[in-house]
Amino acid sequence: MAESMKGLKRSCRCAELSGADIGREVTVMGWVAKNRNKGGIVFVDLRDRSGILQIIFEEEHIGSEGFEKAGRLRSEFVIAVTGRVEARSGAVNENIATGSIEVIAKDLRILSESQTPPFPIEENINTREELRLKYRCLDLRRPDLQANIMMRSKVATLTRAFLANEGFLEIETPMLTKSTPEGARDYLVPSRVHPGKFYALPQSPQLFKQMLMCSGYDRYMQIARCFRDEDLRADRQPEFTQIDMELSFVDVDDVIDVNERLLAYLFREVLGVKVPLPIQRMTWKEAMERFGSDKPDLRFGMELCDITELVRNCGFGVFTGAIENGGSVRGINAEGMGDMPRKKIDALVDFAKGYGARGLAYMAIGEDGAVKSSFSKFMTEEETAAIVRALCGKPGDLLLFAADRNKIVFNVLGALRLELAQQKGLLDKNEYRFVWITEFPQFEWSDEEERFVAMHHPFTMPMDEDLHLLESNPGAVRAKAYDIVLNGTEIGGGSVRIHQADVQERMFGALGLDKETADEKFGFLLDAFQYGVPPHAGLAYGLDRLVMLMAKCDSIRDVIAFPKVKDASCLLTDAPNVVDEKQLKELCIGISKEEE
Ligand code: AMO
Ligand code: AMP
Repeated sequence: MAESMKGLKRSCRCAELSGADIGREVTVMGWVAKNRNKGGIVFVDLRDRSGILQIIFEEEHIGSEGFEKAGRLRSEFVIAVTGRVEARSGAVNENIATGSIEVIAKDLRILSESQTPPFPIEENINTREELRLKYRCLDLRRPDLQANIMMRSKVATLTRAFLANEGFLEIETPMLTKSTPEGARDYLVPSRVHPGKFYALPQSPQLFKQMLMCSGYDRYMQIARCFRDEDLRADRQPEFTQIDMELSFVDVDDVIDVNERLLAYLFREVLGVKVPLPIQRMTWKEAMERFGSDKPDLRFGMELCDITELVRNCGFGVFTGAIENGGSVRGINAEGMGDMPRKKIDALVDFAKGYGARGLAYMAIGEDGAVKSSFSKFMTEEETAAIVRALCGKPGDLLLFAADRNKIVFNVLGALRLELAQQKGLLDKNEYRFVWITEFPQFEWSDEEERFVAMHHPFTMPMDEDLHLLESNPGAVRAKAYDIVLNGTEIGGGSVRIHQADVQERMFGALGLDKETADEKFGFLLDAFQYGVPPHAGLAYGLDRLVMLMAKCDSIRDVIAFPKVKDASCLLTDAPNVVDEKQLKELCIGISKEEE
C-alpha cells in the first residue's frame, strides 16, 4: 500500500544534518536500513546516498495510527519522515556523521514496500559477486559502492573543469565508426542499410582526435567510452571509459606538464593527497632492468640484479645455456624470507612457470650464513659468494633467479617481485607512487605475425635521434611515447604523433603495411594530413583504473555502475543474448551453429 509524496518536499539528505540543526523541523526520505522495535519505541536507521540518520517513532509524538505504521516497517521500505532534529537521547554513535542526533518523527509515509533483499545492504559484505551483479540495483545501494560511484562522478566533473580552464574543448566523436588502431579485437555492429557491412565500435577516439587537431581545435578532451574485445582481468572491461585528450603545437614535456597538474589537482581535491611535482620519469629500459616491468610499482624496492657476467663461465648449465642463447640471468632478493619452507618455494617456482619460466633457481641464506641452494653445487664457493654479494644477500634472505631470454626473465621476475611484495604485505593502498615511463620501444616483435608491430600505435612519432634507424634497425627505435603509472598500474598512456607524410610512410613500411592497406584502414586521416596538419600529441587515462586506485579497490568492477563479468556478459541484463529471427533477417545475417 504505497502512499504518495503529495504535499511533502524533502528538506535535505539524511546525513546532511548535524548538531547545528537541533530544533529544526525536517522532512527526509530514504530506505529503511535497520529497524528495531523496542516495545514503546521504534528505532529506524534511514539511508540515502549521503549516509544514515536515526529516526525515533513514539506514539506520543506520531499518534497511534503512525506508530502502528512504524511497526510495519521492514528493511528497504522507502519512507518519508517529518520530524524534529534532537540531540541523541541514547549513546552517541561515533561511527557515523549523524551519530549525535536523531529525528523524532511526527509523520510517516510509506512510499513503497520491499521484499526481503537477497543480501544485506551493508558495507564490506562477503556476498558472492555474481549475486551482487545480478541484483546490481540493490548492490549499488551499499554505502561503499555508493562512495565509489560518487567519487567517480567527482573525478569526471573536476577533470572537465580543470581541462576547460586550461583551454580544452569537449568534443564528442562517433560510436558507430571504423576500426581504430589500438590493436585489440573490434566489437562490430551490422548495418541494416548496407547488408554485409559493419561498423566497428571505437577502441579509442584516436583517429578522430587527430582529425580534430587538423581541424584546428588545438586542445580537445572527452570522457569517452571505448570498446575492446579482449580477455578480461580485474583491471580490464570490454567497455571502459577514457579521459581522452589531444593537443596541438606541443611536445612530450607539454603533455606531461598539463597532466601532472591535472593529477595533482584531482588527488588534492578528491583525496586530500599531495602529489609532489614533477612526477618522477624513468625510461622504459631502466624500468625493465630495475623492475622487470614497464609499469613498475615503486612502493617497494626488491629490484632486479643482473648476474649474467658473474655466471657466464660457471658450471651450471641452466645459466650458461640461457646466456649462450643470447639471454641473461637475473635475480631478486626477497629480504627476510630465507626461512620459507620448501613447499612455499615450490609454489613460487610454479608461479614463475605460469609466467613462462622454465624454472626458478634459489638460494636461501640461513641465519648462520649457510647457503641452501638449488644450484650452488654447480658453483665454486667464490662464485656463490659473489652472487650473494651482488644481491646484497644477508642472513635470513631468499635469493631467486631466472635464466632465459630477457623478455621472459623480466616477465617472471617482475611478476615475482609483486607476488612477494603481496606476501610480505608491502603494498600500502594509502601510498600513491606515480612514475612516467618514457622512451618506449617503437616496435615490438610479434612471434605470431612474424613482423614488427607498433608498441603504442602506428601514428606514434619515433624519437628524433632514432629516426635514421627506422629501416636498418627497427628494434632499436625508441618512440616519443609515455605512460603514466600509479602503484604498478598503467593508468594512462599517449604519444607525440607523426605529422610528416614521409615519416608516416616509412613507419607503415617498417610495420609491413603497404600503401593500399594503410589507405584502406586509415585513409581518411592520411587524407586529412594532406591539408595542413599541426604537430600534435595526446594522452588517454583509463578513468576506471584511476578511480579504482583512488577508491582503494582491487577491481574496476567496483567503480563501474554496471560492469560485465569475465566472459564479457552482463549478469543484470543477460547481455549478450539471442535476437529475433526478424532482426537477423533485416540485417541479412545467418547464424551458422557449430555442429556438436
Ligand atoms: P591505450 O590503449 O594505452 O591508449 O589506452 C589508454 C588507457 O586506457 C586504459 N585501458 C583500459 N581500461 C579498462 N579496460 C580496458 N580494456 C582498457 N584498455 C585500456 C588504460 C590505458 O592506459 N588512443 C590511445 C591514447 C593516446 O595515444 O592518446 C589509447 O587508447 O588505463
Ligand atoms: P634442473 O637441473 O632442471 O633440475 O634445475 C636445477 C634448478 O634450476 C632448479 O631449482 C630449477 O628450478 C632451476 N631452473 C631450471 N631452469 C631454470 C631457468 N631457466 N632459470 C632459473 N632457474 C632454473
